[in-house]
Amino acid sequence: MQEQKRQLLERLHELKKQRNAIILAHNYQIGEVQDAADYVGDSFGLSRVAADTDADVIVFCGVHFMAEGAAILAPEKTVLLPEILAGCPMAEMITAEALREKKKEHPGATVVAYVNTSAAVKAESDICVTSSNAVAVVNSLAAAEILFVPDMNLGSFVADRTDKKVILWEGYCITHHRVRAADVAQAREKHPDAVVVVHPECRPEVVKAADYAFSTGGILDFARNSRENKLIIGTEMGLIHRLQKENPEKEFYLLHQGLVCPNMKYTNLEKVVTALEKMQPVITVSTSVRERARHALERMLAVR
Ligand code: 13P
Ligand code: SF4
Repeated sequence: MQEQKRQLLERLHELKKQRNAIILAHNYQIGEVQDAADYVGDSFGLSRVAADTDADVIVFCGVHFMAEGAAILAPEKTVLLPEILAGCPMAEMITAEALREKKKEHPGATVVAYVNTSAAVKAESDICVTSSNAVAVVNSLAAAEILFVPDMNLGSFVADRTDKKVILWEGYCITHHRVRAADVAQAREKHPDAVVVVHPECRPEVVKAADYAFSTGGILDFARNSRENKLIIGTEMGLIHRLQKENPEKEFYLLHQGLVCPNMKYTNLEKVVTALEKMQPVITVSTSVRERARHALERMLAVR
């Protein structure tokens, strides 16, 4: 290990103890951040850990909406986002005001918000979902009509797996939306004995062309438990680090070279250490927004 990295890890260890802090990292973070984290997971797992931890400080290595989610679920804790510029372009494709307008057009619909939304949008929603529970949550609802925001691709994925009428918002993940069905065909030609596993943020035609579609946590479970030895992975490239680490005997191929989320790559070990040293940037949510957003998130966490 390089001397500089060793020193950073040592400092991180000291600061974590001093601050009683926990480091949470999303599966798309760079390898050194994943390796230094106390918990690495998908959006659902991360929100559960944030809600349950007894640490005083949560360092969220991910993007802004994830840190906001932790601040909503654990308001008594200090939530740090090491890189304040790490946002999610999909979350920025909807505002609370635009959602309020859309709700007027569909007064009977239950509003289901992907967690990839601001706290203000969650506050306007009835319930949240992540990619790992979206179908189960929608099917658990009494309403026949669902207004699903903001990911039209995850919304279509749900619509194909429910009898409910699903009204879509035209948002998408700029990273996953880059992949086309032709890329799946090309990857299969290159690796004919591999299975294709994609994220439901991919276009519906990509999901149809693939063999399986799961959240990042679901892809990890599948890789661990299935007998397949060669897997073409259709999600952000950061997941390959953990896939390869947990399954050294298996082969993983990235479906498309454009599967990189720049926002997920802004965080590094140095920024994590600096955040804990300076105790900033702190992510907070105003009380009025938080209470309503918390209701939508807790309703989701109660569905099993
Ligand atoms: P999951 O890890 O919950 O599948 O989320 C994917 C994602 O794009 C998060 O921004
Ligand atoms: Fe947002 Fe897509 Fe990046 Fe996830 S991968 S943070 S959905 S832009």
